[in-house]
Amino acid sequence: MSLYQATASAPVNIACIKYWGKRDTKLILPTNSSLSVTLDQDYLKSTTTSRADPSFEKDQLWLNGSEDEIKPGSRLETCIKEMKRLRKQEVEDKDPSAPKLSTMHVRIASYNNFPTAAGLASSASGFAALVSSLAALYALPVSPSTLSLIARQGSGSACRSLFGGFVAWEMGTKADGSDSLAVEVAPQSHWPSLHAIICVVNDAKKGTSSTSGMQRTVETSPLLQHRIKHVVPQRMADISKAILQRDFDSFARITMQDSNQFHAVALDTDPPIFYMNDVSKAIVALVTEYNRIAIEKTGKRKAAYTYDAGPNAVIYVEQENAKEIVDMILQYFPDAAANFKDVFGLYANDAKKG
Ligand code: PMV
Repeated sequence: MSLYQATASAPVNIACIKYWGKRDTKLILPTNSSLSVTLDQDYLKSTTTSRADPSFEKDQLWLNGSEDEIKPGSRLETCIKEMKRLRKQEVEDKDPSAPKLSTMHVRIASYNNFPTAAGLASSASGFAALVSSLAALYALPVSPSTLSLIARQGSGSACRSLFGGFVAWEMGTKADGSDSLAVEVAPQSHWPSLHAIICVVNDAKKGTSSTSGMQRTVETSPLLQHRIKHVVPQRMADISKAILQRDFDSFARITMQDSNQFHAVALDTDPPIFYMNDVSKAIVALVTEYNRIAIEKTGKRKAAYTYDAGPNAVIYVEQENAKEIVDMILQYFPDAAANFKDVFGLYANDAKKG
């Protein structure tokens, strides 16, 4: 019996410059470029196993043990189809002796080691792991940027999880999306002292999905138009420079400004969208006060909050300040700490030492 099988993992990424808005909903082409940090493999990740076999009668997918229907025309179907097309083009057409895996159906099993759809970017790690496992199954000789073109069509932000470290998703200009892809800004090893602390304020499924939220924002928000034309291009350049120079103060300032503007754009949507709750806002106040004291003493910020399409905070810090900030959060939010014992912690780069 022939058995073709491969497993791959992909971590979550957390955006510092937020992607919010599509100019093409089918190809998932964004209205602005974005930039994120991919977390360590060990913490928030999806692990996916793909298998191809001539006896399989249809493509099938299981997410955390339950079967998920692959609907015709869905993003899932698009990603699987595109990966089979690449297998044929890059392997089978070039080497006639290669097994014809592109003609076989696949069975895919994917697991997240964290709550799904709680504003913790599960779709990003999920589609990145799916594309990576199929790329391994199909032995594709292609770059992560090429794979990012396909992961993007599953979930936009997934394209950034094909790389570790600091990653930009360049929006591109072409109508076919061939230049809307992820590129590495710097590897994780460039700035190993940068940590991300994930504060799970609420791990319930989020209210407004990113797909419907973005569509409503694109249709109704004048602030989005200002953001994409006059704000994001400069921020992309400035934060890339801050990362290359390991300038935490600038990195923190831009990250917080961009999180604030993303949530302002959500509020500017008609009807408005609220992703942050009172605990999220209290964490903003705490980080702001912590930074005010740090600026008074040293002239520089020590922490940066950022929020995606949900209430959970991610706080970027340098390793030397990580313990202080975790202790401070636990002190101010003892109820949350009691309820979610294992969710406040250091989850990113080299976190075990923290
Ligand atoms: O890729 P999606 O559709 O899950 O959108 C993600 C949007 C944000 O997480 C809010 C921002 C981002 O750039 O990741």
